[in-house]
Amino acid sequence: MKPAQRNLRSAEWFEGEGLRAFSHNARMRQLGMNPEEHLGKPVIAILNTWSGINPCHMHLRERAKQVERGVWEAGGYPLEFPVSTLSETYQKPTPMLYRNMLSMETEEILRSYPVDGAVLMGGCDKTTPALLMGAASAGLPTVFVPAGPMLRGNWRGEKLASGTDMWRFWDEKRAGTISSADWAEIQSGLARSPGTCMTMGTASTMTAAAEALGLTLPGASSIPAVDSAHYRMAAASGTRVVEMVREGLTIGDVLSAEAYEDAIRTVLALGGSTNSYIHLIAMAGRSQIPLSLDDFDRLSREVPVLASVQPAGEHLMEDFYYAGGLRGLLSRLRDSLHLERITVTGRTFGEDLEGAEVHDSAVIRPVDDPISVEGGLAVLRGNLAPDGAVIKYVAADPSLWKHTGPAVVFHGYKDLQARINEPSLDVTKDSVIVLAGGGPKGGPGMPEYGMLPIPDKLLKEGVRDMVRVSDARMSGTSYGACVLHVAPEAHVGGPLALVRDGDLVTLDVEARVLRVEISDEEMARRKAAWTAPPPKFERGYGALYYEHITQANEGCDFEFLSRPGVNPEPNAH
Ligand code: FES
Repeated sequence: MKPAQRNLRSAEWFEGEGLRAFSHNARMRQLGMNPEEHLGKPVIAILNTWSGINPCHMHLRERAKQVERGVWEAGGYPLEFPVSTLSETYQKPTPMLYRNMLSMETEEILRSYPVDGAVLMGGCDKTTPALLMGAASAGLPTVFVPAGPMLRGNWRGEKLASGTDMWRFWDEKRAGTISSADWAEIQSGLARSPGTCMTMGTASTMTAAAEALGLTLPGASSIPAVDSAHYRMAAASGTRVVEMVREGLTIGDVLSAEAYEDAIRTVLALGGSTNSYIHLIAMAGRSQIPLSLDDFDRLSREVPVLASVQPAGEHLMEDFYYAGGLRGLLSRLRDSLHLERITVTGRTFGEDLEGAEVHDSAVIRPVDDPISVEGGLAVLRGNLAPDGAVIKYVAADPSLWKHTGPAVVFHGYKDLQARINEPSLDVTKDSVIVLAGGGPKGGPGMPEYGMLPIPDKLLKEGVRDMVRVSDARMSGTSYGACVLHVAPEAHVGGPLALVRDGDLVTLDVEARVLRVEISDEEMARRKAAWTAPPPKFERGYGALYYEHITQANEGCDFEFLSRPGVNPEPNAH
């Protein structure tokens, strides 16, 4: 433990006899605060991603009051800051385009205001990595408050999974096996409460990763959004961050290479979202900790999938919580974790896990009876993905783990939408559907197009999975033999841009291979004839994004945010 911090950062704004301090305190009076109510108290910024258009965070405005309560009780001074909301459902073309914007906003708010510590409130997919990336760069004492998953969905007594069952029933509707009336009823049952998607999608994966990193209070990520335990966790998080300020315990003390390795193990044992690869690489980059796809693949061969949560398993996050939650799952991974590292509690990770247990082994499986003996995610390489691609094979039909088939190629999502259901399309269940142009620059923003639709005519024949390859991402709630994140992407001249209809494409999960069966000479000929497409943006934030975004295997951060260098504290006097 570091010695207690003597000086508050906020004192630079409020203390002293100068004109600036006078002015700052005058304006605190304008805010209704007498000096004795805030002077000398740790100022805690509560960064809240609530908005009227984000149903996953609709409870966070109310929950921020609990955080404030905890801060006050510990002798701190809470200040709530509204920050950008990244609503996975509504923000187009994809919130991924704006992840780095929220991370910049987070860092700069913490840097430019009189703030001693931070509580970050979010959970809807990109929100978690965005907040944590910015906070890691800012380097203050920080606690993350996960929004929590929504309650189980329900349709006529059947559990419904947000996202996963929407895709599944959409296919059934297109195949004609459910009616329009059924479909309308399902719409009302998919999302029944505030909170994030209740499958092991990107939201639940990334909030669990935050907990495994040591950035939440123990058990926080599994608590359903509407459970009273969530209120108590929010208040306790406010209390704890004030203590962290006094102890001088910063986010930089928590985020170590060991913490990231444990986070990857956690994601793998959860059968988590492929998006976590991109986000964790970007987050580690902010900590100046090198992390590559090879680290994920190495660990994937060691870590069994233990969480039986959809889409890789059967249950939902509410069941996972009752079964012991993430602490229960981590108790089963204990022997492979770094138990000596510090977390935001000020204790070791091992101490945080004391007393954790599993109450339902059907939901959190024992190590000797896993869902899959290896982590369900694989990194593929080959002449089609020189810098890597990923597949969540545990959520795919095992008969497709090794497959060679003729490519049916689409260039861009509009082309896909226009032609995928043409009756004349030359496609069979053995074809490999390829989408080029869905990557970080080409998408733009690397949208979640990656669960490419199976043509209607094949659905009607009973086909429910096919090999699909793209440089896009896929929702963590999606499933199928979808190869994603192909790097480099087609838009910058990656090999995916050069594949033609009828080329044989090979996927081999065991051998970790993604290949197009053409010669190097033919590949070089096609590359020489390739012309770069025009830029997607010429002005605005999009141009900043387009000019600085890195590829999927590098985390899709802006290179100027991930590089080390001077970024001085502001002069508050
Ligand atoms: Fe917000 Fe899924 S839409 S977590």
